[in-house]
Amino acid sequence: MNFKEELSEYVKIVNNELEKYVRREECPETKLNSSMEYSLISSAKRLRPILMISSYKLFKKDFESVFPYAVAMEMIHNFSLIHDDLPAIDNDDLRHGKPTNHKMFNEPTAILAGDALLNNAYLVISEDLKKENNPERLKLKINAFSELTFGVDRMIAGEYVDTEFEGQEISNEYLEYMHNNKTGALIRASVRIGAILAGAGKTDLEKLTNYAEKIGLAFQIKDDILSEIGDEKILGKPVGNDRKLGKVTFVTKYGLEEAKKMLDDVTNEALNKIEGYKEKGEFLKELALYIKNREK
Ligand code: IPE
Ligand code: IPE
Ligand code: MG
Ligand code: MG
Repeated sequence: MNFKEELSEYVKIVNNELEKYVRREECPETKLNSSMEYSLISSAKRLRPILMISSYKLFKKDFESVFPYAVAMEMIHNFSLIHDDLPAIDNDDLRHGKPTNHKMFNEPTAILAGDALLNNAYLVISEDLKKENNPERLKLKINAFSELTFGVDRMIAGEYVDTEFEGQEISNEYLEYMHNNKTGALIRASVRIGAILAGAGKTDLEKLTNYAEKIGLAFQIKDDILSEIGDEKILGKPVGNDRKLGKVTFVTKYGLEEAKKMLDDVTNEALNKIEGYKEKGEFLKELALYIKNREK
């Protein structure tokens, strides 16, 4: 299987897992459930769950035990996107080529769907912890859970900084801080959770954390570039909105050419961090290149 085929296999696996958590029965909150499903079941890239599975697979083959954490991560990611698109934050109308959640439903429903997805993520994990009776594995899972909650805390901090400084000049340090948190934190947590669940040792965890931090930064630089020069039809979300809102991005701060150069450099650094894994690290390397070259 080549990289593209393998990637789409993983997307299918993740989508199949997510399906299991969709609530479709009639109840007073049917509309809320539909709104959660609307955001969760989509044409998204599933990058975070795939990173989690691939970092686990560096150490172990049987990756099913990662599923609850992968599902939880994608629920949390979608909570962050629903709230990010709200009028009070980015005020965006388009996501995954469709109306954003609050446009499709309404603002109260979108706010609560985000809250519910965040809580459902914790529900999925608590169910998994309850079922685990091997003390060693339980310990790893609790560590993974703690990693996830830390990631969410940092993502929210980054989103806050993003909204707080909208329309203002910010220093390079603040820009990097914002990006490392709002985008980097969940990517970092995804890679680390995969390794933690597989029982990776300290050295491996450090190596992978370094890799994750680089691809997290690369991911946001690319997001900023696509927000400037992407094709809205492929991207499925608005182009030009960052500038319109007066957001400070890598492109507005450094210019397009410099941002592209930074993206190249950070991607190369990510590749270097996992050099030692040889063929085993091939998929993670391909993922770093995919992040750099993606058009959506
Ligand atoms: C978009 O993330 C939001 C950011 C953190 C920059 P993705 O581009 O991974 O979103 P989907 O899930 O694939 O649409
Ligand atoms: C979204 O960042 C980050 C989170 C939701 C945590 P952006 O606002 O830059 O991402 P897009 O462009 O809307 O996906
Ligand atoms: Mg935003
Ligand atoms: Mg946004």
